[in-house]
Amino acid sequence: MNSNIQTLINTLAEAHSLSLGQYQELIDVRCPEAAALLADKAVAERVKIYGKDVYVRGLIEISNICKNDCLYCGIRRSNKSCDRYRLSREQIMECAAEGYRLGFRTFVLQGGEDPYFTDDVLCDIVTEIKSQYPDCALTLSMGERSRESYALLRRAGADRYLLRHETADRAHYESLHPAEMSFDNRMRCLRDLRELGYQVGCGFMVGSPNQTSATLANDLKFIEDFKPDMCGIGPFIPHKDTPFKDHPAGTVELTCYLLSVIRLIHPPVLLPATTALGTIHPEGREMGIQAGANVVMPNLSPVSVRKKYELYDNKICTGEESAQCKDCLSARMESVGYHIVTDRGDVRRQNER
Ligand code: 5AD
Ligand code: FES
Repeated sequence: MNSNIQTLINTLAEAHSLSLGQYQELIDVRCPEAAALLADKAVAERVKIYGKDVYVRGLIEISNICKNDCLYCGIRRSNKSCDRYRLSREQIMECAAEGYRLGFRTFVLQGGEDPYFTDDVLCDIVTEIKSQYPDCALTLSMGERSRESYALLRRAGADRYLLRHETADRAHYESLHPAEMSFDNRMRCLRDLRELGYQVGCGFMVGSPNQTSATLANDLKFIEDFKPDMCGIGPFIPHKDTPFKDHPAGTVELTCYLLSVIRLIHPPVLLPATTALGTIHPEGREMGIQAGANVVMPNLSPVSVRKKYELYDNKICTGEESAQCKDCLSARMESVGYHIVTDRGDVRRQNER
């Protein structure tokens, strides 16, 4: 390992900050020894704050109908081969009930930007889940909405919101999205969510088309500045019915490397080992945990719709019942010395350490 990179890693671990140029170098000159050193330091930070606990979030994919047309995404509106569905309120409540029985204390409602889910409809569902399960945290991942809408949902009881920034580089953002979507609105949403008192998650894909070490350095700097409570990163995986169908997938290697870097930038961050990571490698999620991640998100959606929520090709966990999915993940975590816990798993602020 060259001594430069060793110095960069030590600086990052101590100062939780690097310059843009240094982040870029950390990515460009990486080697297996550097990755191992970063992972060691990341795991040490994670264990100091969260021990060997892994938090589980029960993911309910409520609709694959989307008004957007992001170039990378399998449920984009131009994909005419996508078989569309929307869960009813009763179906969503059944998923939550099953999740509660299985020990989940966080539910994540995720979906495309489906106009059916107006503020009234979504607030009703949020209120009902929170009144039936007051000991649970409720996370929404329903895309870009107005500040007013985020405020109403927060008042109805939503605790957290996941909205990946996708890329902190404006030109790169524009190359991944159609002209009617805007980088500024994305950032506006994240700021509004923060100001409204949500625990906020941002994130990005690794290996998306046109991504470079310079665009990634911007992502890392953004994370350093924004200090998200959660950060979802996973490999880009092509979907056969999108314009990026022939682009290669991101790698486990770079994804795990960046998971370690992000843990060191902001040690208390809740960092999932994503389904996408488990899709490109059979032990991807275990590797993510060993690189510094501390969250997994088993699928609670009805098996009948799972295959339809296909953001990318070959997504795993589409045939298993919720209980199987949870047991499978439990066993996977145990196999690398970590344990799933039944807990809301709120972010620890720096002063709670
Ligand atoms: N590969 C990997 N991740 C994807 N996402 C969307 N499409 C893909 C893909 N092809 C991610 C985006 C989005 C999240 C819900 O899923 O980052 O924010
Ligand atoms: Fe879903 Fe293994 S985690 S089947």
